[in-house]
Amino acid sequence: MNNKELFEKSLKYVPGGVHSPVRSFKGLHTTPRFINRGKGAKIWDEENKEYIDFCMSFGPLIHGHQDPEIKEAIIKALENGWTFGACEKYSLELAEYIINKICFIDQIRFVNSGTEAVMTAVRLARGITGRSKIIKFNGCYHGHLDAMLIKAGSGLAGTAEASSKGVTEKQAGDTLICELGNLEEVEKCFMDHKDQIAAIFIEPLPANNGLLVQTNDFLKGLRDLCHKHNSLLVFDEVISGFRIGFGGMACKTGIHPDLVTYGKIIGGGMPVGAVAGPKKYMEYLAPLGPVYQAGTLSGNPVAMAAGLVNLKKLTPTAYEKLEKFSHSLSLIMKEWMEKNGFEDYQMIRYGSLFWPISTHQKLSNITELPKNMNERFYQLFEIMLNKGVYLAPNAYEVGFVSLSHDEKIQSELKERLWT
Ligand SMILES: Cc1ncc(COP(=O)(O)O)c(C=O)c1O
Repeated sequence: MNNKELFEKSLKYVPGGVHSPVRSFKGLHTTPRFINRGKGAKIWDEENKEYIDFCMSFGPLIHGHQDPEIKEAIIKALENGWTFGACEKYSLELAEYIINKICFIDQIRFVNSGTEAVMTAVRLARGITGRSKIIKFNGCYHGHLDAMLIKAGSGLAGTAEASSKGVTEKQAGDTLICELGNLEEVEKCFMDHKDQIAAIFIEPLPANNGLLVQTNDFLKGLRDLCHKHNSLLVFDEVISGFRIGFGGMACKTGIHPDLVTYGKIIGGGMPVGAVAGPKKYMEYLAPLGPVYQAGTLSGNPVAMAAGLVNLKKLTPTAYEKLEKFSHSLSLIMKEWMEKNGFEDYQMIRYGSLFWPISTHQKLSNITELPKNMNERFYQLFEIMLNKGVYLAPNAYEVGFVSLSHDEKIQSELKERLWT
């Protein structure tokens, strides 16, 4: 069956034909590709068409598809069984490896996804502070938990409403929305909801509505406000955690949160998330503390083994290489766009994340984004797809570069784009 036939069949059995909405290619006027296999920087669909992959499963595959060492670790772990629901050594090794390298965390709890990590962090922050409200920023995504499916309300700053049906008004009322970059608004929220705010949650490198890079002054300002109001600062580093250097934005900027959430890279492509922080906070979690959290498959040995090798391979040299590859690739794409009818586009890049966007304005806030971005993006996406280049399938999604996007792939990209 070709991609179209497979998608039509999928529509019969699966809501919208997909198991996660962005896979549906909504607004892109073409059929989702059914991916059959991946190797290095490439994927092949069920029609055996080859693509250079810049979606890379939305981030976890920092070493590319089927990295041989990660594959070997997975197979080795599998041979001993793939879940025990009991203590095992892989999760201990991964915990120890991460904690020894990241100075502001003493303990970590592994879960199965980024959403689960954030959900745990929300409950933990509330349990630690005894407060119910949290602040989140317009344009940051933290997974599909009720507390985070909230958008800015039409009223005053800080008001909010659910961005999904099924989230109750009560839940929406406990999440206060502020604009990225606006410290005054955050301060006002603290004044308006005195002693009620458990935590500020932020993607320190917002990468879910394009790439809205924030200043260190803003992040530092949030740190200071949390200290001042006895609230916790939570960095959601599910994307940025091990992509922007080891330890993500917290280690890069030296601005340390009270709790941090990880996902994606931490599991090497297997389903993993984590919440981490100082012992004094982490010990609020069950079984020691009063904040309940659990998971049948949490700390799954196969995922832990994959994550450990994934992280061990992330040496300083690896990050230098990744930066070099990302720089070259984004230049190749930018130059091609400029000369082929996409001169309205700029390429925003931060490390190995890039975002082609049809405006030349500097963007740091979701309110500055052009309207209906997919109406323009689908043209770029389709041309790229036909040339064998697979971008993340939505104008709001960033592209991911891996260590397998080497010089050879860079020349191949150039050739594909220009012929
Ligand atoms: C910053 C951030 N937090 C949380 C999540 C949710 O992670 P998951 O999709 O693994 O549930 C994502 C997913 O993209 C994310 O980017």
